[in-house]
Amino acid sequence: MSPVPAVTAFKQAVEQSDGLLFVSPEYNRSIPGALKNAIDWGSRPWGQNSFARKPTGIIGASVGAIGTAVMQSSMRSVLSFLDAPQLNAPEAYITFKPEIYGEDGSVKDPSTEKFLRHYMDEYAAFVERVLSATLPGHMGDSDPDTMH
Ligand SMILES: Cc1cc2nc3c(=O)[nH]c(=O)nc-3n(C[C@H](O)[C@H](O)[C@H](O)COP(=O)(O)O)c2cc1C
Repeated sequence: MSPVPAVTAFKQAVEQSDGLLFVSPEYNRSIPGALKNAIDWGSRPWGQNSFARKPTGIIGASVGAIGTAVMQSSMRSVLSFLDAPQLNAPEAYITFKPEIYGEDGSVKDPSTEKFLRHYMDEYAAFVERVLSATLPGHMGDSDPDTMH
C-alpha cells in the first residue's frame, strides 16, 4: 500500500534538504507527539528511511529551567537509530523568556542573539562537513534482516 500524499510530500522535502534543524518544545519530558509522529512516518517503509545520513541539529525552548534537555536527549536516541548525524556541540537549551523576543520572532537580547548566531554558524559548518564526507550506497539501508 502506498503512503498518503502528505507522507510522500514530507519524505521528499526531507530527502531534498541539505540538513534538518529541529526546533521544538518538550512535552512531558519527551518529544511532542506531532513531531514524533512526523519522524516515524518519515522513517518508513523500512529501507526508505528519509532521515538516513541527513545532518541534524536540535534546538529547544521552554519556560522551564531545563530548557527541553530531556526532549533533546530522546531526540538524540531516535536520530541515532535513524542513522542521522547530529551536531553534538554546541547544545541549545533555551529558557524561553517572552521579553527577549519581538512580536515578529526577532531576538532582542544581545547575548541570546550572539549564542544563537554561534549555534547557526556551527550548524552550517557541520552540515558542510557531513555532506562533503557522505558516500553514496549504504548497503544496510534496504535489508530487512538488518532491523533489530
Ligand atoms: C502536554 C504538554 C506537556 C508539556 N510538557 C513539558 C515538559 O515536559 N517540559 C517543559 O519544559 N515544558 C512542557 N510543556 C510546556 C511547553 O514547553 C510549552 O507549551 C511550549 O513552550 C509551547 O509550545 P506549544 O505551543 O507547542 O505547546 C508542556 C506542554 C504541554 C501542552
